[in-house]
Amino acid sequence: MYRDPDPRFESLGGHPVALRPLRVGMIGIGTVGAGTFRVLARNQAEIAARAGRGIEVVAVAVRNLARAAGIVGESVALTDDPMQVATHPAVDVLVEVAGGTGPARDWVLAAIAAGKHVVTANKALLAEHGEAIFGAARQHGVAVAYEGAVAVSIPIVKALREGLTANRIGWVAGIVNGTTNFILSKMRDEGLDFAEALAQAQALGYAEADPAFDIEGIDAAHKLALLAANAFGMRVDFADVQIEGITALQRLDVACAEQLGYRIKLLAVARRREDGVELRVQPALLPATHLLAQVNGSLNGILVHGDASGMTLYCGAGAGSEQTASAVIADLVDMARLEGTHAAQRVPHQGFHAHALQALPVLPRAAVRTRHYLRVPVHGAPGITAVGALLARQGVPVERLEWMAGGTEDARQVLVLTDEAPQGTVDLALHALQALPEVAGPCVQWRVEPLAG
Ligand code: HSE
Repeated sequence: MYRDPDPRFESLGGHPVALRPLRVGMIGIGTVGAGTFRVLARNQAEIAARAGRGIEVVAVAVRNLARAAGIVGESVALTDDPMQVATHPAVDVLVEVAGGTGPARDWVLAAIAAGKHVVTANKALLAEHGEAIFGAARQHGVAVAYEGAVAVSIPIVKALREGLTANRIGWVAGIVNGTTNFILSKMRDEGLDFAEALAQAQALGYAEADPAFDIEGIDAAHKLALLAANAFGMRVDFADVQIEGITALQRLDVACAEQLGYRIKLLAVARRREDGVELRVQPALLPATHLLAQVNGSLNGILVHGDASGMTLYCGAGAGSEQTASAVIADLVDMARLEGTHAAQRVPHQGFHAHALQALPVLPRAAVRTRHYLRVPVHGAPGITAVGALLARQGVPVERLEWMAGGTEDARQVLVLTDEAPQGTVDLALHALQALPEVAGPCVQWRVEPLAG
């Protein structure tokens, strides 16, 4: 058998190694690309020992050639033309970590057409163009991997696609955006205001190029689309995800939630119901003692409920340079191990083989069932009775009804926790509440997620 003369393979315990290094072309050398390059270089021997072969970056496309030269060194071909890297004859795998959707889609499709595997951390790209990309990959017999696209350091795609394959997954729920979790934690624990906390998240490299993607829940929705595809074997149209970010969240509600024994987190939820699937990203109240409520700062946490496994919890860094690189390189190691595997026997891109993917109906907002938190400003003491009576008339089951602590006579707030009710019923009740003469200002509503069993 051929023994590779490369001395790095001696670390494999003297076993003969027949495979040449996997050759990587990379597009983008920003936060994630630079981290990937650094970790690949630092842990080269250990990664090769796991992969069974070396992994070498041979070409990089980047906008700022001078800056990139300082990161990648002289042995790597540098270009400012991403298409050259995507179709480079010496490249086995394209790593796309440039971000964006339009041009990135063209590079990835060109690489696939040229017979290259693709690794990407670009959740927007897959959530919006996943069908075209996965379809092309199937046609050309190549693999597309994206562990770094969902909750970066946490191997959640691998858990769903491989570790939990025995299960019918009932729901997946989690904190999947590091920036917003960092902002909410800083606001709650250190009293920072929103803009200050966001500026810190940007300085630390957590936020997207356009931070509106983070704070408006779009980034979390991209990730949820990928989680749902892998959990339920469904084709996901990102446009189906109901999205509310954290910009409308008031500090007063963070305090009221604490009074009731809850913490507010931006949650992404994919839940299978008898009549369809709920897909939503919303700020939600979690019991303060819940494990996910302890996931703070830029950490992400994801719970998966399987019928056989029960609940499993995954937690780790949700943003960051080497944290994302950890996932990107894990995908590269999978690619390095693919040699000789027939495409039909590989782990499918979305967890289920293409012929078994379903078009599960996504439930409309009105049909989504959750518990609710309501805060209703009222003019005076009779207000609480009026609120309780109206909710009963509208068929909203009330679990708790009480005054906000410390409210002065002219700033009284009624706090309500409901039992599970359809969003449509609650929306109608809110409309009616708003018209009550006892109500003194805009009513506030957020979901409550017990996330138990
Ligand atoms: N902006 C993203 C976040 C980066 O904050 O979670 C990781 O996907």
